[in-house]
Amino acid sequence: MKIVAYRFPSSRPRRLRRSKNIRNLVQETSFSISDLIWPVFICEGTNKRVEVKSMPGVFRLSIDEALKEIGKFHQLDLPAVALFPCVPEEDKSADCSNAWNPDNLANRATKAIKKEYPELLVMLDVALDPYNINGHDGLVSDGIILNDETIDCLGKQALSHAASGADIIGPSDMMDGRVGLIRENLEANGYKDVIILSYSAKYASSFYSGFRDAVGAGSLLVGDKKSYQLDMANSDEALRMVQRDLEEGADMVMVKPGLPYLDICRRVKDTFNTPVFAYQVSGEYSMIQNAIIQGLVPEEETVIETMTSFKRAGCAGVLTYFAPVIIKYLKE
Ligand code: PBG
Repeated sequence: MKIVAYRFPSSRPRRLRRSKNIRNLVQETSFSISDLIWPVFICEGTNKRVEVKSMPGVFRLSIDEALKEIGKFHQLDLPAVALFPCVPEEDKSADCSNAWNPDNLANRATKAIKKEYPELLVMLDVALDPYNINGHDGLVSDGIILNDETIDCLGKQALSHAASGADIIGPSDMMDGRVGLIRENLEANGYKDVIILSYSAKYASSFYSGFRDAVGAGSLLVGDKKSYQLDMANSDEALRMVQRDLEEGADMVMVKPGLPYLDICRRVKDTFNTPVFAYQVSGEYSMIQNAIIQGLVPEEETVIETMTSFKRAGCAGVLTYFAPVIIKYLKE
């Protein structure tokens, strides 16, 4: 056996990893507070802060509490929130008419927040599930999720949200034709500057359980959402959905869930060169947060790693329940 002493290699990649400064100098992606949308659960009442069981550290907040909490992080440069109403059972119905009630919880919260913090971007979901007695995103008849009847409702819902001052409308229902219908209705009613961030590539996922618990839709859900949300095995289909939504008038698109679908984020970004957002959903939050609580992984480093991964995959920004943690960390 002959062992040859290895002398100077022509390249030493470790030169660029030697110190923090050189690493930062050559870093390909970075993220900041300006990339964050914070999803916030809103409940009725005053003075309410109720922890979501499956999402330790995440609270349902009454509007007055949400104002304080959101204000705190807005002052630290949080650019946007996504509000999710936890609608009490008595306000749910089969026709979901509370979805476009100008005084529903989502609309009241939006008015209050926009009044207090006009610069903060407020995003509202458009889908019927918080208002539905069976947990579905659309109207149900004989076990079938009705498409065309549902999008008529979504158009009305979107208009009520625009009227209450929402800056961004996020159709999360996965019905066909909803972005086009919403866009036409917004235009026809003078809301031409309202942004549509479409949940274009929203997969039928097990990672939404915590969210459904939080908004009180989980125990009501009859069956599953596979007749409208995407099959986890598909990737080309996601591109077709994004293309359709952009053609129908979406300004930005979303991939959801986040980490298990980074390949989709990258494909969408490379194919369409349009702002792509990832939603790091409730189940992803719960997994990471529980590992943090048990001391299995470090908090800041782990959360920052996931954010960096989203940016590396081409995302413009991320919806994440970790937004408060990230802000505190970045401000330290
Ligand atoms: C409802 C909606 C869901 C989420 C956002 N909007 C749940 C679902 O589709 O059942 C999930 C978000 C999360 O899990 O954090 N249309």
